[in-house]
Order: sequence, then structure tokens, then C-alpha cells
Amino acid sequence: MKSNTEKFGKTPHQPSLWTRADALKVHADDPTTTQPLVSADFPVLSNEVFIWDTMPLRDLDGNITSVDGWSVIFTLTADRHPNDPQYIDENGNYDITRDWNDRHGRAKMYYWFSRTGKDWKLGGRVMAEGVSPTAREWAGTPILLNEQGDVDLYYTAVTPGATIVKVRGRVVTTEHGVSMVGFEKVKPLFEADGKMYQTEAQNPFWGFRDPWPFRDPNDGKLYMLFEGNVAGERGSHKVGKAEIGDVPPGYEDVGNSRFQTACVGIAVARDEDGDDWEMLPPLLTAVGVNDQTERPHFVFQDGKYYLFTISHTFTYADGVTGPDGVYGFVADSLFGPYVPLNGSGLVLGNPSSQPFQTYSHCVMPNGLVTSFIDSVPTDESGTQIRIGGTEAPTVEIKIKGQQTFVVAEYDYGYIPPMLDVTLK
Ligand code: FRU
Repeated sequence: MKSNTEKFGKTPHQPSLWTRADALKVHADDPTTTQPLVSADFPVLSNEVFIWDTMPLRDLDGNITSVDGWSVIFTLTADRHPNDPQYIDENGNYDITRDWNDRHGRAKMYYWFSRTGKDWKLGGRVMAEGVSPTAREWAGTPILLNEQGDVDLYYTAVTPGATIVKVRGRVVTTEHGVSMVGFEKVKPLFEADGKMYQTEAQNPFWGFRDPWPFRDPNDGKLYMLFEGNVAGERGSHKVGKAEIGDVPPGYEDVGNSRFQTACVGIAVARDEDGDDWEMLPPLLTAVGVNDQTERPHFVFQDGKYYLFTISHTFTYADGVTGPDGVYGFVADSLFGPYVPLNGSGLVLGNPSSQPFQTYSHCVMPNGLVTSFIDSVPTDESGTQIRIGGTEAPTVEIKIKGQQTFVVAEYDYGYIPPMLDVTLK
């Protein structure tokens, strides 16, 4: 693989590197960066559907927004199939684990509303069947645009391909609830280009998804973060000195880590409305460290850019590891350089006794972190599990300079608004 300088030139910026040395500092079970144990007797939001990635309605500055006193979240959602013969095992029992593991292939965008920032009521599907151009509606961001209630939903249209798209609709409230209307015309925005961002042709396991648009608090322009992999044929990437970082003797061997090539992508809008986008070089790369930096998002605090992204144990490269959870990086300006929070990047990981208890964390500007419950062990050995598919308890972290600390835990799926918009 070409070096960053050869590949991206001198402008506009050099991607920051999450190095193997940084990742060697990741320590599971540090109480300041570990999510409290989720109890196996958690309540579920719905017996009809699984939910996972949760996307609170917000404005372009990142503020979680309620409308006319109603909080709104969007979720990736799939039907549960307790009576479908396809998911009944040889003993006649519902194989919920298999049903849950198959969910990505039938993911659809649903919305929920609440007066309390929890106890969510199911609103329904955002787009009618047939509106979205592909089989899967994957993660993104709903943006409240104005006091008329216009909403741009940015999301990922997946299979075939993976395209960042958006669809415009409107939120309508009554004293009884919320509905989403419109959402009828999906506009493709962009796909991986093979020069900066890896394509499916270069790697069938590529990732290109999870748009997170925002207005830069400093230059006022409209940008978008997304998940990608660094361009190039699978196996061609080089894990050199820069990617390794400053490691102790005995840690120079990078094994097969060239297959792990995650990056956080960024694009800038050419227009005010965000209909026309130009991809820029990644903000952050993790070549030789990790293969997935999913759902990247920002918290703007104390004049700094706090960049958060979720990742898995199974996507780490040879010789480095860490828990499933949310990782973070901080910079003084949008284009970096970014340094890993807490030295390692780890901000909130699952405890090693319950490695899959939660995932898809979203750090909100008020320090609250929402996530979903994946599976929680129900016996000592961890062989019996209970599948979640529902909201996890919300955790609060304090962000201080280059460090973060877990400081509180709240109710399941607690996502309070930061501002309320009265619709005109
Ligand atoms: C995170 C994620 C996203 C993707 C979705 C697919 O949990 O992997 O990156 O959009 O889930 O279900």
C-alpha cells in the first residue's frame, strides 16, 4: 500500500493513526472504562421486534432534540419469529439466537416516541416497503432540519452494494403521539471510490456505512462522518513503522494484521442542503489494528473534537485485542491530529465476564451513552445466554481533556432531550 502522503497528497490533511502501540494500552475491566454489568433480567422494549442500533433525533449541531415535548429515536429493527418453523429447533423450541444473528439481512428503520425520554412507544416503519432501494436499511442519522418538522434521514442502503443515501420526510405530533410522514424518495449520495475508501471489488468484507452529518462548530460547513476501510486490494496493505508505533522489544511482529484496515471517513457538502458531497481522505485509520470503526460520531466540547466509534473484539488484528464497545480520539481541530482517549482509545467496553452484553454505543453531547443489549449470560459458565434486541441501561461518562470516566448509570434506553423544538 502507498503511504498516506503518496496516496492523499499534502492536502487537505493527513489521516491520524490508531497504532498497534496505542491498542496495546487497551485494558479490559478497568472500572473507569467498563460498562457496568447488565443484569439478565432486563426488560424488552417489544416482543414483536428486535432492535439494535439506536439513532436519537438530533439537530446538525449534535443536540438531541424533542419535538413538542416528544422524544424520538430511530432504531434498526427486525421482526422476531417465535412461531416461524424456520427458527424452531429439533426440540420444538424457538431458536432465538439464530433469529437474532440473522437480523442484519432484514434490518429496517423504525421510529419510537416518548414523553419521558424512556418507555418508548413503537411508531412504526419510517419508509414503506419498496421505498428503500436495497434489501437492508442500515444505520445512519435522523436530522431535524427546522421548526416546520422537516427531517433528513441519512442511512446506508445495503445489499446489493453499500450506498450512503438520504430520504426527506416530516415529523408530525399530536397530544397522543408522533408520526413520520413522507420519506418517499431516497436519494443516493455516494459510494466507496476505491482510491481513498475500499470497495466491495477490492474486498468482499469491506465496510462503507453509518453516515453521521454535522455542522462544524468552527467553520460552519456541513460535513459527514462514516465508516470505511482504507482503499486497496485485500491483503495489499502494509503495516509499517507508523502503523506499529512505539512498541516494546518483542512486539514488532505484525502477523496477518494487514487484513485489518478500518478507517473513519469524512465528506464535505458542496451545497447547503447536503445533496451533493465530496469524499475527503479518512480522519483516522486503524490499519494493522482493527477492521471496523463503526458508527463514528462527534461530541464537541471545550473547543475540542471528540471522535467516537464502536468496535469489536473479533475485528482486532493479530497481536492486539480489546473489548466490544466505544473507542474515542480527541483533536483541537476537525482534521486532527487525533490522539486516543485514555492513551488506548478505549472509552466504554464490555466487562470480560459479559463480553457481548451491549454494543453500538452512541455518546451524546450531555455525556450519556446509549447502547443496545446483545446477549447476557444466565449461568456461571456463560454457556447459557439471554438474547437482548432491546435498549441497554444508559451510562454517563465524564470527558476531561484526554481522559474519560464512567460516573453514573440510568434506566434502560434513557435518552433525554437536550432541547425541545416547538413545531410551527
Ligand atoms: C453496528 C452495525 C452498523 C450497521 C448495522 C448493521 O451495530 O454493524 O455498522 O449499520 O449494525 O446491522
